[in-house]
Amino acid sequence: MPPRDARWVMPDHTAAKHHVLKAYLDAWMPIVGGSWSEVLLVDGYAGPGRYAGGQKGSPLIMFDAYALRKDREKLRARPRYVFIEQRPDRYQMLAAEVEALELPEGVHVRTIQGDFVEELPRLISGRRQPPTFLFVDPFGYSYELEDIRALVAAPHCEALIYLPTPFIARFVDDPAIEETISKALGGQQWFQARGLEDLAGREAAIHDAFLSSLRKTAAHVRSFEVQSHGASGYHLVFATNDRLGLVKMKEAMWKVDPAAGCRFSDSTILGQPVLFDAAADLRLLETALRDRFRLEPFSITEAEDFTLFETAFVPTKHLRTMTLKPLEASGHLDVQRPAGARRKIGEYPTGTLLRFDR
Ligand SMILES: C[S@@+](CC[C@H](N)C(=O)[O-])C[C@H]1O[C@@H](n2cnc3c(N)ncnc32)[C@H](O)[C@@H]1O
Repeated sequence: MPPRDARWVMPDHTAAKHHVLKAYLDAWMPIVGGSWSEVLLVDGYAGPGRYAGGQKGSPLIMFDAYALRKDREKLRARPRYVFIEQRPDRYQMLAAEVEALELPEGVHVRTIQGDFVEELPRLISGRRQPPTFLFVDPFGYSYELEDIRALVAAPHCEALIYLPTPFIARFVDDPAIEETISKALGGQQWFQARGLEDLAGREAAIHDAFLSSLRKTAAHVRSFEVQSHGASGYHLVFATNDRLGLVKMKEAMWKVDPAAGCRFSDSTILGQPVLFDAAADLRLLETALRDRFRLEPFSITEAEDFTLFETAFVPTKHLRTMTLKPLEASGHLDVQRPAGARRKIGEYPTGTLLRFDR
């Protein structure tokens, strides 16, 4: 049940979500804000801005991603923020939090008391859309995926969306909310979940439908499962057309503090749930690479793309030093570096060819 009070006690899974949001925006801001003069950050379901225990809510975390940067003056962009909250009492609190902010020069924050579904189309301006990061974090699933997709279709625009899969799975046979679910999941593929006895099967069908719909617009769609106090199946889904965005989101996930009482795993690839924690089992990556390339030669670029797109691992962190280097050192990986490149174990410049020995 969603909380009734205007402010509520922050649950552990929210703290974990906030870690991801902060880690991602800490990486996003200098990349995007360093290249474009205008950037937009939208929190579609902003909440009151602060929790009952005083912790910052997502709008303030998004604001800090720029305001607390020591190098912010060096960035080209002065971000524009839009925070939307529907409930009047929460909106008043949010507006008061924003009022109390010390705005760095050139930064604009707009708060809207309204319905995200109605407001989002007004924030989409087609070709003139500045690079935009959208956070969609409702208690339920009242959003319309088609509009979120319309935003993600614009260059350098991306979304992080909460998908309460088990919550939706409970209602798939209720005709009264068929239309609401279809809007949230971006089509009717989820009908496949109907009539399934098995709850896990329903959840998988819902999850697949949501991802397939997003993939019509976004080249890279990644789903992370939030596991909290025995509850599983809740997802944070990230959609982007930027390869670097995907790299940075995967890096952010691997940074999540497991002490938040909640863990994430990659659930994009069914059957290969990999928990994001310090004790990552890199044998999984080695096995995946061996299964993919067998005894055929492959380039370092192919290895990077495979790691990024087809596994839970992130090439910048896990591929070279943690996986390829020990394999090369133990003689299990033949390495041909391009002519003129330094022959140093662990260094794999572009053009390097690799091959497993057996
Ligand atoms: C899960 S909370 C948001 C928490 C916040 N994102 C954070 O991490 O601190 C969802 C919020 O969305 C608000 N809300 C519900 N329906 C909404 C709608 N249609 N449009 C905008 N906000 C809505 C709720 O009142 C609630 O404050």
